[in-house]
Amino acid sequence: MNVKDAIENRRAYRSLTEIKITEEMIDDLGKAAQLMPSCFNKQPWRFVFVYKEPQLGNIKNKALNEGNSWAKKASLIIAVFSKNDFDCIIKEREYFLYDTGMAVGSLILRATEMGLVAHPIAGYDPGKVREVLIIPSEYNVINLIIIGKKDPTIPNDFTPYQIESERNRPQRKPLKEFVFHNTFSF
Ligand SMILES: Cc1cc2nc3c(=O)[nH]c(=O)nc-3n(C[C@H](O)[C@H](O)[C@H](O)COP(=O)(O)O)c2cc1C
Repeated sequence: MNVKDAIENRRAYRSLTEIKITEEMIDDLGKAAQLMPSCFNKQPWRFVFVYKEPQLGNIKNKALNEGNSWAKKASLIIAVFSKNDFDCIIKEREYFLYDTGMAVGSLILRATEMGLVAHPIAGYDPGKVREVLIIPSEYNVINLIIIGKKDPTIPNDFTPYQIESERNRPQRKPLKEFVFHNTFSF
């Protein structure tokens, strides 16, 4: 799969089946993040790959918002976290979220290439994530990435919205709304 295919195939599906998680797989995903650019090469991103009990079950049962119950089928949940002073702060520009986001983008595309669903979520309790994974309070838990394999069967407990969005993933704004040539026009 080339990069364009990975970009086009990646979608945030919710209907997941189990997969076996190996250390090779984790290293592979880690390397996809590792090579991304960051301000002064500060590499502010941190990841906990959660795939064993009791941590995986504890994240699923204690930290997920109710609307993200579908994520209980995950075989792997990656907690993404960082701190603003891990990266450049240039006046009002704090780069830790930006650089961590780029690393996550690369990891997600590599997961797609590996035939996995890698679905980022913000609907969780960061305090509970920190408690389960022993992440100190000064870290910002930015995202959980839910990993599994796409299940073509849609579970019975999905809401009508979830059923519809499993069949048709959301459309995007047209390019002209966010791509500008030479000057910004609004
Ligand atoms: C920062 C962020 C937070 C998100 N939070 C959730 C979430 O809590 N639950 C969920 O089901 N999807 C979540 N998503 C997935 C988005 O809803 C999804 O990416 C978007 O609707 C576009 O669909 P697509 O990724 O299939 O193209 C999140 C995505 C991002 C990047």
